[in-house]
Amino acid sequence: MVSNKIAQYVVNKNETIADAYWKFSREYKITIVVDNDNKFLGIVGNAEYENAKKTTSPKEKIETITNKNCKKIVYNDGTDIYMEARNIYAECNLNYIPIVSDNDIIDIFNRERAFYKQYFSEGRLPRMHYSVCMWAAAEEAKRMGYDAISVIEFGVASGNGLLAAQAHAKEISRLFGIRIELYGFDTGTGLPESSNLVNDMGNIFAPGCFTMNQKTLSMQLEEHTHLILGNIEDTIGDFAEKYNAPPVGAMFVDVDYYSSTKPILNWLGQNDKYFMPRIFMYFDDISALQEGLGEEKAIIEFNAENEGNIKISPEKVSGNIDWIAAGYYANSSWIYNCTYDYARPRLKICHRYNHKDYTKYRFSDDEKAQIEARYSL
Ligand SMILES: C[S@@+](CC[C@H](N)C(=O)[O-])C[C@H]1O[C@@H](n2cnc3c(N)ncnc32)[C@H](O)[C@@H]1O
Repeated sequence: MVSNKIAQYVVNKNETIADAYWKFSREYKITIVVDNDNKFLGIVGNAEYENAKKTTSPKEKIETITNKNCKKIVYNDGTDIYMEARNIYAECNLNYIPIVSDNDIIDIFNRERAFYKQYFSEGRLPRMHYSVCMWAAAEEAKRMGYDAISVIEFGVASGNGLLAAQAHAKEISRLFGIRIELYGFDTGTGLPESSNLVNDMGNIFAPGCFTMNQKTLSMQLEEHTHLILGNIEDTIGDFAEKYNAPPVGAMFVDVDYYSSTKPILNWLGQNDKYFMPRIFMYFDDISALQEGLGEEKAIIEFNAENEGNIKISPEKVSGNIDWIAAGYYANSSWIYNCTYDYARPRLKICHRYNHKDYTKYRFSDDEKAQIEARYSL
């Protein structure tokens, strides 16, 4: 049995090296080789592929270059996978570790998971900006006695962001003991038609862009991740009731258009019971070079309409005046590799001043005493 979430990395031992490499090259992570009964045989990583390029025909079977003595974690009830993984990483310079149970491959582990807390504090997790919002929301929820929160990504496209959020949710949920339900909203068919291309920044966003392969994405979604397809205008209104969603603690808005951001922010006007008192937010498509347009225009209007009740703060993008951040170059994929610097000025908090928990003191008695001690003479 091979679970859906890792199916994309698994190949049968009889596949050719060339075919296996084709799959490997989608993400350059790992190839997991299984036998005809789908039982775990070994792995092929970059080192084996590089070596094979010099020594072996690509028409050979992948089994010929499979590392059958690779490090792996054998999972039984009670195995502390995190501890086992950290022990392996202390000795070996590798990234991915297969987790096997009854010779079935059940998961792959990586360094970001094993050292999540450390990498978080060093600010070097992938999609760090998603992580900081979710961490802040989970920490606040825990301190205020909530046992679950919702996290939402508006604008999913191929799913890179939703899958990153899913990976973060798993670790943050474990660290804080908080259930995290993750929701991804998207048309499923890319950007909708726009009737207001100035406000929607038609110079950099075009209808139909960013389509989704629903089948491939759905296969990788786990128990607490939900994909909600359709125009957000139609799907957001009754979403919280329909999904019995816990209060929203973090959200990522990446819908590009002003006109798609409006219904999201209007929905924030619903009853406080659907939300945490503060919602940790990331807006992807705001730039100091296009002030007052796109997502930023929707934020400015929202704050004016809700003055004294709800505020998204800071209202404008802080700093980050560069052409790439303004979306001017199509070929700017490198920016996403150093994404925390890119993203940091786009982080915001939505304050719900009338929420019953808005002014609830968030520190424990011990922490309060420590703070007092720090400031006393
Ligand atoms: C830039 S892509 C999202 C990328 C994704 N967040 C990531 O990081 O991989 C923007 C997405 O917003 C979606 N979108 C824009 N307006 C929408 C609307 N009104 N309803 C639903 N989805 C919308 C589009 O379908 C598109 O896939």
